[in-house]
Amino acid sequence: NEVSLGFTFSLQLALPKQVRFSVKSRVNRKLVVCTVESVGSIYQTSDVRISKTSEWNALEQHAKNVISKTHLRDLLTDPERSEKLWAEFDGCILDYSRQRVLPETMKLLFDLANRAKLQEKKEAMFRGDKINITENRSVLHTALRAPKETQLFVDGVNIIESVWQVLEKIRSFSNRVRSGQHTGVTGRPIKNFIAIGIGGSYLGPEFLHEALRTERVASAAAGDRILRFLSNVDPVDVKRATDKLNPEETMAIVVSKTFTTRETNINAKTIKDWLIYHLGDSPETIKKHMVACSTNLDMVVKFGIDPENMFPFWDWVGGRYSVCSSVGALPISLQYGFDVFERFLQGAHSMDDHFRYAPLERNLPVLLGLLGVWNMSFLHYNARAIHPYSEALLRFPAHIQQLDMESNGKHVNIFGENVDYPVGEIDFGEPGTNGQHSFFQLLHMGQVVPCDFIGFMESQNPVCEEGEPVSNHDELMANFFAQPDALAFGKTAEEVEKEGNPKWLVPHMVFTGNRPSSCLLMPVLDAYVTGQLLALYEHRTAVQGFLWEINSFDQFGVELGKVLANKVRKQLNESRYFNKDISGFNPSTTRLLNRYLEGSVG
Ligand code: F6P
Repeated sequence: NEVSLGFTFSLQLALPKQVRFSVKSRVNRKLVVCTVESVGSIYQTSDVRISKTSEWNALEQHAKNVISKTHLRDLLTDPERSEKLWAEFDGCILDYSRQRVLPETMKLLFDLANRAKLQEKKEAMFRGDKINITENRSVLHTALRAPKETQLFVDGVNIIESVWQVLEKIRSFSNRVRSGQHTGVTGRPIKNFIAIGIGGSYLGPEFLHEALRTERVASAAAGDRILRFLSNVDPVDVKRATDKLNPEETMAIVVSKTFTTRETNINAKTIKDWLIYHLGDSPETIKKHMVACSTNLDMVVKFGIDPENMFPFWDWVGGRYSVCSSVGALPISLQYGFDVFERFLQGAHSMDDHFRYAPLERNLPVLLGLLGVWNMSFLHYNARAIHPYSEALLRFPAHIQQLDMESNGKHVNIFGENVDYPVGEIDFGEPGTNGQHSFFQLLHMGQVVPCDFIGFMESQNPVCEEGEPVSNHDELMANFFAQPDALAFGKTAEEVEKEGNPKWLVPHMVFTGNRPSSCLLMPVLDAYVTGQLLALYEHRTAVQGFLWEINSFDQFGVELGKVLANKVRKQLNESRYFNKDISGFNPSTTRLLNRYLEGSVG
């Protein structure tokens, strides 16, 4: 039973070790013992580094002594194994029987997860502990999709209330724009949107937009509206983003967490100038045609955007985890209506709850994360591919690429020491079947790259010609089912020979097989399922970071190049406009810069 002790206290601990202490008091003559644990340190504390634990060692031995002697061709003959390596949740099926694992391997991976305190770390994340230790921030993208009636306090503020205040503001603003109540400065309705942003302020919303574009409910809601993205600082991207758009009917959404990202600021300025050129230089032009999603109110105002037209989010939302904040909510609600976006949030929330509460053995994000750790750190496969058998997910691999590589592309652990085991896969992918006619040759015969195949029971656009026995979706899905088996089973020299091929050709036609993959089978790609898919992969990344003891939530690796670009830019300007010599660079860069200056006009 909870009893109030009549006092509260707060502590800030910056200790390398986990700290526990007890407060004892007498309430109603009963002794009450309250144990306090420094939660930040749950995340950061372990007596032994993960790679030095007996659990890690057991997996290394298992990989060497057991798994290295198996072939998926044999493993897949065991119906009991296939049945065990399967998990389902809320319509999503994960079949991981084509991974190079035995039920025994999974048991060892669960032991490793427990040793790494995965449950506690997960809970610390959901609770809002400042697990992004290098930036002293909470990691709460899950709060962005929590139901309105829930509560979560960070620094004394119920952040769910703040989240829903912004969502309600977006609902009302998007309704006004979509209904024609908010018009452009010349009185014409707004029906084109340009979302200006880069990295996490672009890839998530773009993937979501593409996923919804051909979905029945969303596309009906979009009507003839156009949503485009402007991310690259390449002037060509500006041309493509504005091409054939009428400025009178166009609204620019500047999306930047910091509002200091150079590419975004330059593009935003260019679009501002374009709007002013066509619509006149009045505050009304910007008020009616430019809005912002950011955490930086001062910079937004300085840029000239009406604070009323700013849709905030918070420092506890990482850029690459921000699609559920105003970053995704505003462009998607303007294009498709708020209800569609809300379904997306509901799908993500359903996966959040599953991740938080389901036991490890049935927990889809945990299973995906553990398989990632297994493949990377124990089987040493340093790349991984994602193949959605859905054209609408064409930008999903790019989003996951940033999400995962910016998160887990690290060389130090949370203790600031070098990691002495492989972490952070190279992620890439293309929708099937296009990928099959591109890089699948390498996947089948070259390096071993674990794959995720994502397929759907039903197409967004079911087409079945009269009299045709196979619909287009079945044709697509035939490939979805065939490829994982082709990778797993391969083709032996004996089988190639039996087909009557000449002897000299046989080695060229052998498929070694034993190439791991997982199959995810989901109902139909609608807003809800898209939300589930997003959260599933966000949590996979976190699980891997938690096990590897790295901080998946900072990104210092993007800084060095930015600083150097500033130096180059300064020199280019000085040389081009003030005839100064290029200096301070190594000979290779100096030579390249000089040749560029000779051959370009800036
Ligand atoms: O690429 C680095 C990065 O900081 C990403 O993490 C982020 O999503 C992107 O730049 C854009 O940042 P901002 O939203 O602040 O413009």
